[in-house]
Amino acid sequence: CRWRSSLPQLDSADRSDEESGGEIDWDNLGFGLTPTDYMYVMRCSLEDGVFSRGELSRYGNIELSPSSGVINYGQGLFEGLKAYRAANQQGSYMLFRPEENARRMQHGAERMCMPSPSVEQFVHAVKQTVLANRRWVPPQGKGALYIRPLLIGSGPILGLAPAPEYTFLIYAAPVGTYFKEGLAPINLVVEDSIHRAMPGGTGGVKTITNYAPVLKAQMDAKSRGFTDVLYLDAVHKTYLEEASSCNLFIVKDGVVATPATVGTILPGITRKSVIELSRDRGYQVEERLVSIDDLVGADEVFCTGTAVVIAPVSSVTYHGQRYEFRTGHDTLSQALHTTLTSIQMGLAEDKKGWTVAI
Ligand code: COI
Repeated sequence: CRWRSSLPQLDSADRSDEESGGEIDWDNLGFGLTPTDYMYVMRCSLEDGVFSRGELSRYGNIELSPSSGVINYGQGLFEGLKAYRAANQQGSYMLFRPEENARRMQHGAERMCMPSPSVEQFVHAVKQTVLANRRWVPPQGKGALYIRPLLIGSGPILGLAPAPEYTFLIYAAPVGTYFKEGLAPINLVVEDSIHRAMPGGTGGVKTITNYAPVLKAQMDAKSRGFTDVLYLDAVHKTYLEEASSCNLFIVKDGVVATPATVGTILPGITRKSVIELSRDRGYQVEERLVSIDDLVGADEVFCTGTAVVIAPVSSVTYHGQRYEFRTGHDTLSQALHTTLTSIQMGLAEDKKGWTVAI
């Protein structure tokens, strides 16, 4: 397939601030939405099945038919990845395993009956979006530019069927830490009546429809002072799956365990990287069923995700009982956080070829 795109010229207002995000308070970023300058848009009809003519345009509202597949039937996927200001090369930016996001989107698109961009198109579009919004990449150590690729059924459809047209869109926003706790340990609560996923469902792909259904549990947990929710499997209500926005790991007697990606678990790219980095440190890592009993007996618990990075868990509450875990110095999660973020920011040698410099 053929595709083209070129970097637009920055307006004079943008140019005066080309290397910084203007008035933004880099020290207090959090995970709120700061609109940036450009987004990338590429379209495809179901008939063609091939995306083409992707281009950057000014960030702003998009027009959608009221009968578009995404609005009516939730035919949509999203991705998340980050660009960091590179430590070792002045003026360049680092992406972390972007082709993994591209492949995950392709896998999800197959499940959701959508055509998807090629890996090459996806990575090219991500690079273009970062470069066009480069003034919004936070200074070293202050955060990252969060990149949000979307793939949506944008064409109109009334009866339940795949939409006739698809839009691939990427926007970006500068972000700091995901949870309000910052880098401090988080407190989770196990939810046993609302489930995130079910066997044969879509828990294992990054469809937009996995997220709104957990808002009720998440809001309820927040109102009770918890950071987030841990979901149980829908069949046995015994095995832990993941939190609303991140994967789960436990550590017991030097063995690391995480729920296996059996269809109800999102195959996180940070999860995959953490498994490899833990093995490199000599830990045995098991991808298996992780029960409530495993969790309450663990020495250490942590969550992983692109937005979350690696968040240590200080407590999990289950049926009103609070269980506490080791956090702070000499924990695996802290060591992994340092190793991972050093690679992502270009502070440590990337022996695995995970980073892509722009
Ligand atoms: C990410 O970690 O990038 C995600 O997609 C989770 C989202 C709920 C912020």
